[in-house]
Amino acid sequence: MTPRGVWATASPQALLEFFHAVKLQRYSRFADLGCGDGVAVCCAALFCRAVGIEADEGLCFEAQENARALGLMHRTAFVCADFQHLRLSSFDVLYIYPDKPLAGLERKLTSWSGTLLVYGPHFSPKGCKPAQVFRWKKETLSLYAFP
Ligand SMILES: C[S@@+](CC[C@H](N)C(=O)[O-])C[C@H]1O[C@@H](n2cnc3c(N)ncnc32)[C@H](O)[C@@H]1O
Repeated sequence: MTPRGVWATASPQALLEFFHAVKLQRYSRFADLGCGDGVAVCCAALFCRAVGIEADEGLCFEAQENARALGLMHRTAFVCADFQHLRLSSFDVLYIYPDKPLAGLERKLTSWSGTLLVYGPHFSPKGCKPAQVFRWKKETLSLYAFP
């Protein structure tokens, strides 16, 4: 458990497959909303600049150390905060592996334009249909285009 939810980590192999399929290099700024130990940020940093936002201080520190160990500090940044309180308009691609329904995020995205990537099959933005769904082994990634 973390101050804002539950931590589980995405599969790095699946992430690399998905980000390759999505052509993540087309984007300029990626943010992981609840980055945990930074696995998705480090994978995304191989394609574009990537920022991790994480409410749990210990995990945020771990994410930064993982990026440092992989030599990815120049392409990554980490913010220890609740993403609900941050402006997200500078990002053209948002990624989330949700640990709960996306209600608060949906409200924040009403005036945002960009691509939302949702890892896992459990939660999806209300009233939105994915433009594409990628599958790798048992993992899924859904792509939503906003607006
Ligand atoms: C299921 S984990 C996903 C970790 C990582 N994104 C990944 O793909 O491996 C969800 C993470 O989101 C964080 N989290 C949940 N709500 C948050 C919020 N409002 N602001 C910042 N972090 C949040 C939790 O602390 C947890 O580390």
